[in-house]
Amino acid sequence: MHFLSTFGFALACLASAHASTPVIVKPADGTHISPGQAFDFSYQSIADYGVSSYNYSVYLFTTPPLAFMTSQNFGAGHYFGRFAQPNYPGNPNPSNTPPATFVMPDFSKPPGGFGAGASATNATFYLAVFEEYSNGEGVPGNRISFTANRVIYNATSH
Ligand SMILES: *[C@@H]1O[C@H](CO)[C@@H](O)[C@H](O)[C@H]1NC(C)=O
Ligand SMILES: *[C@@H]1O[C@H](CO)[C@@H](O)[C@H](O)[C@H]1NC(C)=O
Ligand SMILES: *[C@@H]1O[C@H](CO)[C@@H](O)[C@H](O)[C@H]1NC(C)=O
Repeated sequence: MHFLSTFGFALACLASAHASTPVIVKPADGTHISPGQAFDFSYQSIADYGVSSYNYSVYLFTTPPLAFMTSQNFGAGHYFGRFAQPNYPGNPNPSNTPPATFVMPDFSKPPGGFGAGASATNATFYLAVFEEYSNGEGVPGNRISFTANRVIYNATSH
């Protein structure tokens, strides 16, 4: 999504003409999700003819993921996991396909230990995907795409 220019995700940066556009289909941008609610997840991978996708990682940022700088307070959020979309020949038969739904944590519940938890009302969070892929043009390591949709946590209206 192009909702924040600071996200800097520009399709022009994708080096291959064949790449699909990585899109978080569900939850759509602006979806309301309650604490503890299961929500549909669907992701369109960048994999395409000429582009191999290996894995993608799904995060929920509860603060805007604006700048990747070394910091003890880089941000806040939750990691949903590392998944893959079958694509031939790069990763034809992955064992870690994503679930159809994730459950939004209730962040008001203390996570244990020294954790405190915090309530939030009508908060804008960012469901984000980093995808590891390659398009046949050599680079040390995999290329990594980034996309994010806003979700409204504990919305005041439905
Ligand atoms: C994908 O991620 C899983 C889990 O971290 C890992 O075991 C696997 O080797 C990765 N596959 C590729 C192709 O990177
Ligand atoms: C959700 O918002 C209400 C106020 O509308 C608040 O009382 C409640 O604590 C919030 N819940 C969570 C889990 O943050
Ligand atoms: C809740 O958040 C949405 C999205 O940011 C905003 O449009 C709306 O005005 C907010 N509602 C209240 C009552 O603050």
